[in-house]
Amino acid sequence: MSHPASPAVTAAANPHGDLPARPARASAGRALNGRVRVPGDKSVSHRALIFGTLAVGETAISGLLEGEDVLNTAKACAALGARVERIGDGEWRVQGVGVGGLRTPAAALDFGNSGTGARLMMGMVAGNPITATFDGDASLRRRPMRRILDPLAQMGVETLDSAEGGRLPITLRGPKDLVPIAYKSPVASAQIKSAVLLAGLGAPGETSVTEAEASRDHTERMLTHFGAEVRVEPYGAHGRTVTVKGRPELKPAPIRVPADPSSAAFPLVAALIVPGSEVVIEGVMTNPLRTGLFLTLKEMGADITLANERVEGGESVADLHVKASCLRGVDVPAERAPSMIDEYPVLAVAASFAEGTTRMRGLSELRVKESDRLAAVAAGLAAAGVDHRIEGDDLIVEGRGTVTGGGRVVTHMDHRIAMSFLVMGIASDKPMEIDDISFVATSFPAFVPLMRGLGADIATVG
Ligand code: S3P
Repeated sequence: MSHPASPAVTAAANPHGDLPARPARASAGRALNGRVRVPGDKSVSHRALIFGTLAVGETAISGLLEGEDVLNTAKACAALGARVERIGDGEWRVQGVGVGGLRTPAAALDFGNSGTGARLMMGMVAGNPITATFDGDASLRRRPMRRILDPLAQMGVETLDSAEGGRLPITLRGPKDLVPIAYKSPVASAQIKSAVLLAGLGAPGETSVTEAEASRDHTERMLTHFGAEVRVEPYGAHGRTVTVKGRPELKPAPIRVPADPSSAAFPLVAALIVPGSEVVIEGVMTNPLRTGLFLTLKEMGADITLANERVEGGESVADLHVKASCLRGVDVPAERAPSMIDEYPVLAVAASFAEGTTRMRGLSELRVKESDRLAAVAAGLAAAGVDHRIEGDDLIVEGRGTVTGGGRVVTHMDHRIAMSFLVMGIASDKPMEIDDISFVATSFPAFVPLMRGLGADIATVG
């Protein structure tokens, strides 16, 4: 489908189906060396397709992440009436239908493994008087969706059908007239914020979302970029209120997707923990609402320098120069969690190679990601012989400078668990094995060749 020879995106499909698991192993080898560019940012890529669909006319996107999660969003946008074309490597064109212009999809929209795709697009369809069914793989079917259904219900969206506990598959019907709301989000979640703001585009008047801690702001930035009226005001010590004026005519605007800091995290931590390594990661997005990991690693003593800082496509980016470092344990405050929410698994790996205790506070949201990441990380650390404990919502890792390894990790359909423990294996005394590498394709399809290119010893087994 995402092929120049068959340019228009049409059908929806779950890429994994019942494919067999593919175990993989990572072993210690030589120092990592080289310059790499990781794929486009996943959050920006989903939003580029969504805003392209809601604009009137053609949006040009470059550097789109061509991972399964984003490709599922592309298929869903096509099923709702947009023309979505791949014209080259990361180069896409979206012919949008305008706010309120979506058509009823012929079949259920399948978001595979992606919470972002499913949740943002629930908000996107809310302002259209259409019925749509949202579905996903076994991991996504386990994840909470009431956090989206509740605010949408306040706006007048009907949930016609859902699985137990308000989970996928879910069928929604948008009302003729959506009601604007002022929503105070119970969790700092860019997915909740974005779903409500996207719904608000279809309502008359102003819709606002308030969160006690600011989550990533790509939706607000893109709303402005496409010509919507947006206001961002501070709320409390760390929070914000974002307000959008409904029923705008969004104008197509070109989007250049910067490299994903959440994907950069893997070669970054790998370079820090494999002695003698020296790696440059090019063009990584340095939006301050995404760089909690970089800050934390620097506090741990990591040698990371930002070079060639610039603005590309409305986002700040830089080349990260990374050298192997002796890390020490730190205390990571809970209010930093939204700016590094996807990076805790790989931070736990870095903490395992540090000297001393690392306490990561306030990780309740990790329990509802692609897997229960708190449990999955703890099980992986146990398999590797790393001392750790969970106290309430905190994860505490007792680093000893080296890791024994030699264990097998269950990844629970979670790409970041898979990549984190492969990174651990390239620096631990004995190899680490994971039960399934296939979900890496959701966000970082070229993870293995990229890491191998730097010198890492990673291979599928069995
Ligand atoms: C995302 C927001 C985060 C993050 C996810 C992508 C987004 O989820 O975990 O990978 O693009 O908005 P929450 O905002 O629900 O924490």
